[in-house]
Amino acid sequence: MKAVFLEKPGGNLVVREVKTPVPGPGEVLVRMKAAPVNPSDLAKLRKADDITTFIPGLEGSGTVVAAGKGLLPRLWMGKRVACSSEYPYSGTWAEYMVTKAGKCFPLAAKVDDEQGSMSLVNPLTALGFFEIAKENHHKAIINNAAASALGRMVELLGRKINIPVINIVRKSEQVNNLKRSGSKYVLDSTAPSFIEDLGKISHELSATVLFDSTCTGQLGKMISVLPSGSSVIIYGNLSGEENILVNPRTLIDNDIKISGFFLGARSKKNGMLKNIINLREVGRLMSSDLKINVQGRFPLEMAQEAVETYLADMSAGKVLLVMQA
Ligand SMILES: NC(=O)c1ccc[n+]([C@@H]2O[C@H](COP(=O)([O-])OP(=O)(O)OC[C@H]3O[C@@H](n4cnc5c(N)ncnc54)[C@H](OP(=O)(O)O)[C@@H]3O)[C@@H](O)[C@H]2O)c1
Repeated sequence: MKAVFLEKPGGNLVVREVKTPVPGPGEVLVRMKAAPVNPSDLAKLRKADDITTFIPGLEGSGTVVAAGKGLLPRLWMGKRVACSSEYPYSGTWAEYMVTKAGKCFPLAAKVDDEQGSMSLVNPLTALGFFEIAKENHHKAIINNAAASALGRMVELLGRKINIPVINIVRKSEQVNNLKRSGSKYVLDSTAPSFIEDLGKISHELSATVLFDSTCTGQLGKMISVLPSGSSVIIYGNLSGEENILVNPRTLIDNDIKISGFFLGARSKKNGMLKNIINLREVGRLMSSDLKINVQGRFPLEMAQEAVETYLADMSAGKVLLVMQA
């Protein structure tokens, strides 16, 4: 089969022919149809050490074409699924992927392969944010990098369940785009009045949780204007900054809590039943009004171009690798 590899550590992406993997007990073989380029894929590519075996791609969609021993693998045989990778040597950026059957979820009939390939990571994270908001009685939430695919889902869910979302973006055209699509609260982090505006609006709406995926140098100032008792939840590191500077007095005087969010850990905590309920909810949303923008589609052989296109304008929509096998 064809699969994407790194030419050298930190180098370009290339396609190589390798043996199609065989599913073992509890595993399935998925013939891949589509897979997005996500920020988490780029982070993995930067860290990959054994480039001779590493196949990127954390999520995607396809059809289960072979099943190892076990009830679940047999149950999924022949099904169209959303899937995530289990092993670094078998990612979704390939014609076939072997993964645990428990990492595959049948797709609703109304969800096509492309949309289905993006139905795990971001939609489940967006649901997770509102679980946190409800558990902790936050009346409104603040989300950064809000022009992202995830940001748009957070806004959509917020509207559905009546929890206002304060969206933070970093370009004026993103403010206009979000407002045009119905977002009420949008702040531009490059505006001179940004910190002041954030303080004002977060107090007005009692927005006591900030979800941040950027970790920029502004974070300390942003935290200093949040309502007392707020929580700051870091779920990404788009800026690549290795340290976050926060004045300890802010944390003490304003009773601020800082923590991290990782979907894998959240799913483990939620348990199987809650995860199934969430997946069904994602299926329902994707069958109706949740449509993720796609800005480009590339064959595996053009994975390098796909990543470059994505990096040139991440807010323009997802870039997909589309497999022809
Ligand atoms: N922790 C978890 O479990 C989890 C799960 C899902 C997603 N995430 C995180 O959620 C974030 C969004 O993911 P996505 O797939 O929705 O992204 P996406 O649609 O690919 O878009 C990325 C967004 O990030 C913005 N961005 C990039 N670098 C930035 C920076 N230095 N400062 C501010 N904004 C920046 C881009 O805006 P421009 O167009 O202005 O560049 C773009 O809107 C990522 O950080 C991802 O890792 C985390």
